[in-house]
Amino acid sequence: MPEIYEKIFVNNKNWVQEKLDKDPEYFKKLSLGQKPPILWIGCSDSRVPANEITGTQPGEIFVHRNIANMVIHTDMSMLSVLDYAVNVLKVRHIIVCGHYGCGGVLAAMTNKEVGLIDNWLRHIKDVYRIHKDEIDSIKDEEEKANRMVELNIQEQVLDLAKTSIVQNAWKSKQKIYLHGLVYDVGNGYLKDLNVTVEDEHNLDYVYKLSSKTIF
Ligand code: CO
Repeated sequence: MPEIYEKIFVNNKNWVQEKLDKDPEYFKKLSLGQKPPILWIGCSDSRVPANEITGTQPGEIFVHRNIANMVIHTDMSMLSVLDYAVNVLKVRHIIVCGHYGCGGVLAAMTNKEVGLIDNWLRHIKDVYRIHKDEIDSIKDEEEKANRMVELNIQEQVLDLAKTSIVQNAWKSKQKIYLHGLVYDVGNGYLKDLNVTVEDEHNLDYVYKLSSKTIF
């Protein structure tokens, strides 16, 4: 059996002991339920662990991760997480966190066929198309990729605002802030991209939903 696989159980036992040493009731309290104030939508990349880089504890962040931290409005998994986070957990902050050097974004910037994942990466190509002029004007390859990572995060924040789930919450006066963050794998720092959206005011009218209409 691979050593790393056996090691996770040893690590787990040590972790349990550490927690119990600090608070014998730790797991008993956690088992009562969760009320995290934050939903985190991040990349599946193993170098970007939500709790660890934010110094948050179990129970503090509700997490959804996929390749390149995408908010795709036909993705039932993402929508289910979002619906539960907004309507049951009543989170106040939703964070889309991307990271520099994201393999998904890099792959989407090429024309190379990879396989099934091309269909997922298509959504990132759409972001490229929307910001084509800006991206293509950047000559340095690393800078170009970094900017693309940032713009992808920005678009996913807007995609959250376009969902009926978030729009209905805002309509019922539920305060929800949508934030775009980028993580630098090379130095460990999180950066706020200052693209926070907290209401539907700046949402393109095309995406605004009003009371149900019968056609
Ligand atoms: Co990534």
